[in-house]
Amino acid sequence: MTIKYIRDEEPNLTPWESRDDEPINATDDRAGLDWDQLAFGYIKTDFNIRYTWRDGAWDGGVLTADETIPIHMAATCLHYGQQCFEGLKAFETANGDVTVFRVEENAKRMVRSCKKVLMEPPPEDMFIEAVYRVINANRRFVPPYGSGASLYIRPLMLGVGPQVGVKPSTEYLFTIFVLPVGPYFKEGFKPVDLVVEELIDRAAPLGVGDAKVGGNYAAGMRASLSAKQRGYTEVLYLDAKHKRFIDESGPANFFAITREGRYVTPKSTSILASITNDSLCILADEMGLRPERRPVAIEEIFSFQEAGCCGTAAVITPVGTITYRDREINYCPDGEPGPHCTALYRKLQAIQVGDAPDPHGWISKVPPA
Ligand SMILES: Cc1ncc(COP(=O)(O)O)c(C=O)c1O
Repeated sequence: MTIKYIRDEEPNLTPWESRDDEPINATDDRAGLDWDQLAFGYIKTDFNIRYTWRDGAWDGGVLTADETIPIHMAATCLHYGQQCFEGLKAFETANGDVTVFRVEENAKRMVRSCKKVLMEPPPEDMFIEAVYRVINANRRFVPPYGSGASLYIRPLMLGVGPQVGVKPSTEYLFTIFVLPVGPYFKEGFKPVDLVVEELIDRAAPLGVGDAKVGGNYAAGMRASLSAKQRGYTEVLYLDAKHKRFIDESGPANFFAITREGRYVTPKSTSILASITNDSLCILADEMGLRPERRPVAIEEIFSFQEAGCCGTAAVITPVGTITYRDREINYCPDGEPGPHCTALYRKLQAIQVGDAPDPHGWISKVPPA
């Protein structure tokens, strides 16, 4: 793929002088990791990719082995939170291809997040090209087909120009690093325990809760820590205005299966539009679970048949219990995920690793460099 950018000279960050020299790590040199024991944590891989926006144009991007970012101390990302990020996954298929799941949707969402905090959005084609380039450079870290692990891709946008007044940066860094990961919750595909949070809000209805900006996660850390200290896996947030409707869980959207067999998921202006959830709504529809996206009152948890958290990292994590004030509902009394969560999980995973047909065109094969 050749994409020409307005300013195509390469910054002098690495020994590779042109894209023709770009490193590609072959599979036979696969990193010797314990693939089925991977957790969701940082692992150093070989390369990350960086593009800079300066003087009104993006450069051509460069791969580097440097894990650090030299940054001006007055950069807007450091003081005023002018940053956002994304998260998506790559998988190896049975025939050795590497595929990414719905990369165009992550590219679009990053544009939306950037616009919300007045950053220069990376063009969608540049985002996708960057994903492919960094995967090819780290091919030996793509977990083998059948291991259950995947390559997590973390695009990040930073306002790097100096400002002391509160205003947007004049310079931006778009970077992507990748790392092989196992399940987000150590439980894997096992029920987790949520507690409803009433004392801390994650995001305001007309704020930036629907953008993937770091401040939302910092705002949730106290709640998450407190939940863990009390023996729960994560929190379930309520809408900040009424404290009546379910928003989402810390790092994932929430869904439930009603007794009537419908897939229900909250509609709210303060939650992230999960690409996994959007995919599950489509799969649920195909399975006859007639999806409903609407405000979900917290009292409804006591009448659901099953519940789950969903996201790129969490995939589908079945919810075992939800504690709300002094009441607890248990969806998995035998400790096993319910049949609908299980069917949705299996279907989604089969599509992602290429074991099931992909009628919606969610999978893109990473073109060899
Ligand atoms: C707050 C929050 N909600 C939901 C999600 C799930 O979104 P997606 O399915 O696009 O990964 C994530 C993870 O990306 C998240 O951080």
